[in-house]
Amino acid sequence: MIQVLRNIGTLAQCKDEGTQNDIHPISEAALVWENEKIIWLGNESELPENYAQAQAFDAQGKTVIPGLIDCHTHLAFGGWRADEFEMRLQGRSYLEIAKAGGGILSTVTATRKASHGELLSRCRSFLPKMNALGVTTVECKSGYGLDKESELKLLAVYNELKENEPTHIVSTFLGAHMVPSEFKEKREEYLSLLTEELIPEVAKKNLASFCDIFVEESAFSLEEARTILGVAKQHGLTPKLHVDQLTPGKGAELAADMGAASADHLEHISEEGIKRLAEKGVVAVALPLASLYTNEPYLNARPLLEAGVDVAVATDFNPGSAPSYDLPLALLLSCNGNRLTPHEALKGATIIAAKALQIQDTTGSLEPGKSADFAILNTESINHWLYHYQPNCCLATVSQGKLLYGSL
Ligand code: NIG
Ligand code: FE
Repeated sequence: MIQVLRNIGTLAQCKDEGTQNDIHPISEAALVWENEKIIWLGNESELPENYAQAQAFDAQGKTVIPGLIDCHTHLAFGGWRADEFEMRLQGRSYLEIAKAGGGILSTVTATRKASHGELLSRCRSFLPKMNALGVTTVECKSGYGLDKESELKLLAVYNELKENEPTHIVSTFLGAHMVPSEFKEKREEYLSLLTEELIPEVAKKNLASFCDIFVEESAFSLEEARTILGVAKQHGLTPKLHVDQLTPGKGAELAADMGAASADHLEHISEEGIKRLAEKGVVAVALPLASLYTNEPYLNARPLLEAGVDVAVATDFNPGSAPSYDLPLALLLSCNGNRLTPHEALKGATIIAAKALQIQDTTGSLEPGKSADFAILNTESINHWLYHYQPNCCLATVSQGKLLYGSL
């Protein structure tokens, strides 16, 4: 069925062209899709005659953007950690709490206890709320299981979401999030479990597209990351990395060496790291909600953009460092904290986020042939959207041509 959205005040195409500040706006636009794909867009005065009979909707002069892509979340986890939120407010740091047995490991305990059904229904409760904010694609990491059964349980939850939910789901294996307590005195054995059993099994069963690792003094070293990601690549999983978050660690340099799809966090990236990301075309992912909640400095994105690095923005939704799935809020913070312009922020959560997930050929921008994933925002411009921040500006969200939220 062919459907047309008419009377769009501004349509932000967000193509993978020009600078990150260029959102390729079309004013007084119309957008046409057939089933799940976009077939035409442009100025409404040029709408081809053959679409005149199609089912039409009125955007009432509002703004249309590509469906937002949250390219870094830890969607499935057991429990919450509000107690740590309060401890941090009283002055204890994220790393101190982690070293005292809190942090990721306390979520691992709760996640191991949760059943597949419990985790699935929690994810199913989060996704519609993300859709209501304009989000149509969510990357989901494992990493709170840290044993074979529990890691596979998390990835099975994501697989089920992928098959049955209208949101696009991209899965990432993060078995190297932390060494679990039972392997504390024998980390070599945990590394073997990852490289000899888990990575091969995840790849063989096609349970994830990416393999991520947390490189930090409380988690994995650069050398360990090199080994683990090397094995992941041999099995066809593309590297992603949590690096240079709490301390500088030459993580961006490693991401470039490994040909990663993205290097995420990067609050303490070095000048050399910036140069290497640019050379290798690795996407940098800014996670400003993590800076907000951990009271750590924000990544300054200006030198990265000046060097030619694409900068994506995501929520990092997880129960510790970023307990919010509010991607528009992350975009606002990416302006004030990461020093992006509102246009750069929008591209960071659309086409650039798609590049971080290597799905830019099918979504992330409004172009003929791509998935009909878009949101209608009740705002006159992207600048105004993030400046006059409201609980929710989104009037409707469409994914693969189907209404996920609101009304048309
Ligand atoms: O991306 N940095 C490592 N992992 C998460 C935090 C996970 C947690 O605190 O539970 C992050 O910030
Ligand atoms: Fe993360």
